[in-house]
Amino acid sequence: MLLEVRPGRPLRGTITVPGDKSIAHRALVFSALAEGVSCLLDMPDSEDVLATQSCLKRLGVSIIRRGGTVEVRGRGLRGLRPPKRSLDAGNSGTTARLLMGLLAGQPFAARLTGDASLRRRPMGRLAEPLRRMGARIRLLGGDRLPAQIHGADLHDIRWASPAPSAQLKSSVLLAGLLAQGKTTVTEPLPSRDHTERLLPFFGVQVARRGRTAAITGPARLRAVRWRLPGDASSAAFWVVAATIVPGSWLRLPRIGANPGRTGFLRVLRRMGAHIAGSALTGKPEPACGLLIRSAALTATTTSTKEAPGLIDEIPLLALAASQAEGTSRFQGLAELRRKESDRLSGTVRLLRLFGARARVEGGNLVVSGPARLHGARFDPRGDHRLAMTAAVAGLIAAGRTTVAGAESIAVSYPGFCAELKRFSGT
Ligand code: S3P
Repeated sequence: MLLEVRPGRPLRGTITVPGDKSIAHRALVFSALAEGVSCLLDMPDSEDVLATQSCLKRLGVSIIRRGGTVEVRGRGLRGLRPPKRSLDAGNSGTTARLLMGLLAGQPFAARLTGDASLRRRPMGRLAEPLRRMGARIRLLGGDRLPAQIHGADLHDIRWASPAPSAQLKSSVLLAGLLAQGKTTVTEPLPSRDHTERLLPFFGVQVARRGRTAAITGPARLRAVRWRLPGDASSAAFWVVAATIVPGSWLRLPRIGANPGRTGFLRVLRRMGAHIAGSALTGKPEPACGLLIRSAALTATTTSTKEAPGLIDEIPLLALAASQAEGTSRFQGLAELRRKESDRLSGTVRLLRLFGARARVEGGNLVVSGPARLHGARFDPRGDHRLAMTAAVAGLIAAGRTTVAGAESIAVSYPGFCAELKRFSGT
């Protein structure tokens, strides 16, 4: 599908973004392991989340979806059934990694695979701790999927994660739920903490100290009823769009406000963005309404320490930086190369195509602005976040912009193109 964008009207009004994808994966998996029926409201219908849902169904979990409401009949910690066919995580790294942790502790074998992009992403750094816990895992693509996972009675480990990655951390903690003893994960820098917040909500204690989280297994999970907050990473496209399209104002109700996800708001405010937030509400994940007005931006530098909290929004922040006065530096982005595509070079390719100045220096991204953008034909090579970033760029780029393969956007935000049409001149 070809998405066409032209500069159009200022963005004015209210946009309701779908429920948080990162949280939705966890809520589904924990509900599947819980005792009782969970009811999850405002669940996104992004393809990534549907991939988790269909893998869990293949493992014998009854999941009924009516619009945004999902009912999950938990099977308890050991109640999953051996799948008859391969489990397909599609494009979703979170699905694949959470399932690896889950399957490591089951008394059966399963095969896990994904699409071409997911089959290029590293899995060895997760297989290693799960093997140490007792699982037998064969990665049939070298360091990559497909994986043949022979679950086992797991034992606890103390694991120092090689990367600030919530997927790795969550997967090992998930295996820890099924293991005998206390499983401890320490990260080099803190990553998003949805797993640590949600597990206590499902009745499992998590001991947290600084960059370390520990749980004692085997654990029992209870069912929950819960409304998910809006996805901050989806909201980010509108936050940046309203900031850089002159004359805009946008209201975004009930956006997830977990500090591990809202780093982009702090960075944009530092750059001069006008972003007002209402009071925080909600547990175990806070949410708040946002009001954004367009603003003139100045350059900024983000540190390596900030990077894990910004990682999914770097392409957008780089676009914002292309409109800011001065040279911005985003440091410590090595993990960005391991996303749905090499998003570090993809971001530079995107910005340059639109006429902005950007380069990679080691693991850092350097963007100089302000640049007057011109329309471009962009191929995101299947990466949903690059596709949406290019579409937002199209709102301020003179002339016509096209984004090829825009169906990839449904991976995280199926309603994005329909919303965009309200503001684009096409
Ligand atoms: C996610 C964690 C992040 C993020 C991804 C979702 C999660 O990846 O980029 O979009 O749900 O745990 P890493 O675990 O690689 O940091």
